[in-house]
Amino acid sequence: IRIYVPIDVAALAVGADEVVSAIQTEALKRGLPVEIVRNGSRGMLWLEPLVEVETPKGRVAFGPVEDTDVPTLFDAGFHEGKGGHKLHIGLTDEHPYLKKQQRLTFARCGITDPRSLEAYKALGGYKGLEKAISIGSEATVEEVFASGLRGRGGAGFPTGIKWRTVAAAKADQKYIVINADEGDSGTFSDRMIMEGDPFVLIEGMTIAGIGVGATYGYVYTRSEYPHAIKAMNDAIAIARKAGLLGKGVAGSKYDFDMEVRMGAGAYVCGEETSLLESLEGKRGLVRAKPPLPALVGAFGKPTVINNVMSMASVPIILSEGGKYYADFGMGRSRGTMPVQLAGNLKYGGLVEIAFGCTLGSLVYDFGGGTLSGRPERAVQVGGPLGAYVPVHQWDTLFDYEAFTAIGAGVGHGGIVLFDDTVNLLKMARFAMEFCAVESCGKCTPCRIGSTRGKETFDKIAAGINVEKNLAIIEDLCQTMRLGSLCALGGMTPFPVESAIKHFPEDFGRKPTLQA
Ligand code: NAI
Ligand code: SF4
Repeated sequence: IRIYVPIDVAALAVGADEVVSAIQTEALKRGLPVEIVRNGSRGMLWLEPLVEVETPKGRVAFGPVEDTDVPTLFDAGFHEGKGGHKLHIGLTDEHPYLKKQQRLTFARCGITDPRSLEAYKALGGYKGLEKAISIGSEATVEEVFASGLRGRGGAGFPTGIKWRTVAAAKADQKYIVINADEGDSGTFSDRMIMEGDPFVLIEGMTIAGIGVGATYGYVYTRSEYPHAIKAMNDAIAIARKAGLLGKGVAGSKYDFDMEVRMGAGAYVCGEETSLLESLEGKRGLVRAKPPLPALVGAFGKPTVINNVMSMASVPIILSEGGKYYADFGMGRSRGTMPVQLAGNLKYGGLVEIAFGCTLGSLVYDFGGGTLSGRPERAVQVGGPLGAYVPVHQWDTLFDYEAFTAIGAGVGHGGIVLFDDTVNLLKMARFAMEFCAVESCGKCTPCRIGSTRGKETFDKIAAGINVEKNLAIIEDLCQTMRLGSLCALGGMTPFPVESAIKHFPEDFGRKPTLQA
């Protein structure tokens, strides 16, 4: 009897380890031979801990399981996949939340034991590396270019162009750096893949190393992710032992090795140049660009810096071909996006889907609307620096350009839902406060502007000279947008201005007519 219980931190937080102990105890009592596999999360977070039992028809799911449910689950024959228990869900793969998705990057996440290289390989793992080795550096970079993959960290810059720049740079040493400093509110896709399928990131980085001629890589992640750090370190050790990292990877002429570096919890260290400073052991201060990190990056050497999601998409691009990946999506947004649904919604979780669906379908068809049951009012897309999008714009297609057109951004794919109790004045003030707290302090518009913004919102909230103070906010936003060195100060106006524009009634103004 093989039973899967996730080891992902979202499942651990709601008692997955206790469920494992209860299953072991109960199986022992009943004399049943049970093998427990600790898998990653399937991403249906409201069902965690999601326990699955292997049957000839496929894996049957039960959830959310508490340790106290375990005796009655056995009584109902859950270990044989029987369906009599109230927590019985059915075949996992048939669950509509999963069935409606197109999982390319997350193809294995939640299915395999993240520490099993055999399981990774059995589901197509390391085929991409094999291909990269056989076609060589230049063709590897061109495959990524052909896929149309764009930076999943938020900026959407074409990954193939970035790789071409690094490949063309002449240097005695080049690096691959992964931005795993996932700081956006409501986002967890980087963490999920590092905990649930770490080999996909290692394989992607190795392919990138072959493509651009880099022999060493760093995964820069946050101290708040201890489980992800452990999963990555374990997988790196396994890959090294199997000859998939180190000198002559997989018996080829290419060398590549890597390590994990832990940051100390500053949001701004997710900005690539600040990340590099921190990686080099210095304070996380933003560097001016140019020079681009692609030319002068880690330790002054040409460096590919990619987000976890961008790099974890590379193995399938190589194994199936750039064209296969590019056939998903719309316009210039090719492939799939791992969207993370969070906030006040019924079904929070990870939804990997081709670009081109509507924002509303993500909120309603997957998210199920508000958990509170109250009317929806807004979503914030793309983290704390993302715009607030009102319900009447939820027919917008999930696509980089379509979002830019409505003054928003896709960001790292985080969607946070709010119901009608949200006060957008408070949220706009929070954006300024967040920027003030997290500012690296290097430039005035961000360091001083955010503090003045917060104070000005306090006056507006108190009803003091509202119109005059809103004009000051407008001015501050313009200065921050145009005068900040990096996206932290430069993008804080997004949540602020979108809140004022779409929800004027929260700022003491007349409501606008909505389309
Ligand atoms: P950017 O547009 O300046 O650069 C994007 C990437 O392309 C960078 O890696 C840059 O070095 C590279 N690049 C640009 N031109 C290049 C060229 N000619 N050759 C090679 N590489 C080139 O954007 P930036 O400031 O790096 O990122 C801003 C974005 O970060 C925002 O759009 C925001 O959505 C996102 N963000 C993400 C967060 C997260 O937690 N994932 C948090 C905060 C912001
Ligand atoms: Fe630092 Fe803010 Fe300037 Fe960015 S915008 S460099 S975080 S002070």
